[in-house]
Amino acid sequence: MTKSILFFGFLLVFLGLTLPGTQGRIIPRCELVKIFRNHGFQGFVGKTVADWVCLVQHQSNYNTHAFRDEGKSRDYGIFQINSKYWCDDGKTPGTSNTCRINCSKFLDDNIEDDIRCAKIIAKEANGLSRWIAWKKHCKGKKLDSYVKGC
Ligand SMILES: *[C@@H]1O[C@H](CO)[C@@H](O)[C@H](O)[C@H]1NC(C)=O
Repeated sequence: MTKSILFFGFLLVFLGLTLPGTQGRIIPRCELVKIFRNHGFQGFVGKTVADWVCLVQHQSNYNTHAFRDEGKSRDYGIFQINSKYWCDDGKTPGTSNTCRINCSKFLDDNIEDDIRCAKIIAKEANGLSRWIAWKKHCKGKKLDSYVKGC
C-alpha cells in the first residue's frame, strides 16, 4: 500500500519535471532568496531581499512563464517586465527597449536576463515603485515572512 503510494508520488514528480508544460517553472521561494542574495539585491537601491521576494510573489507568483496582456503593452516573466519601456516584443509601438532585449527572453527558465533588467528598472526609479504590486502589497509592510527559514 505505502509502496504504491510512494511509486505514484515519484511518478508525479517525474512527470512534473519532464513535461515542460504551459505552467512554467515555479521557483521555490528559498531558491529565489538565495539567487537574490548572490546577485547583490540586499541593500540594492535601499531595498531588501524580502522586498524583492514580496514583489515577485505578488507580480507573478514565482512563475517564470508569467505573462499579462495589457492591450497596448505586455508584462513578461517573474518580474512582469513591461514591453513599453524595457524590452521589445515587436508589437509595442514606440517601445524604448531600455534593457535592449527581446521580451520573450523573460519567459524562459533562465532568470539571469530578467534580473539584469529588473536591476536597471530599480536603478532608474531608485527603488521599486515602478512595480504596482510592490507598492500595494510590500511597501512599508513587515516582510520577514518572505525570507523566513531560508
Ligand atoms: C523575439 O524572439 C522570438 C522567439 O525567438 C521571435 O519569434 C521574435 O520575432 C523576436 N522578436 C523580436 C522583436 O525580435
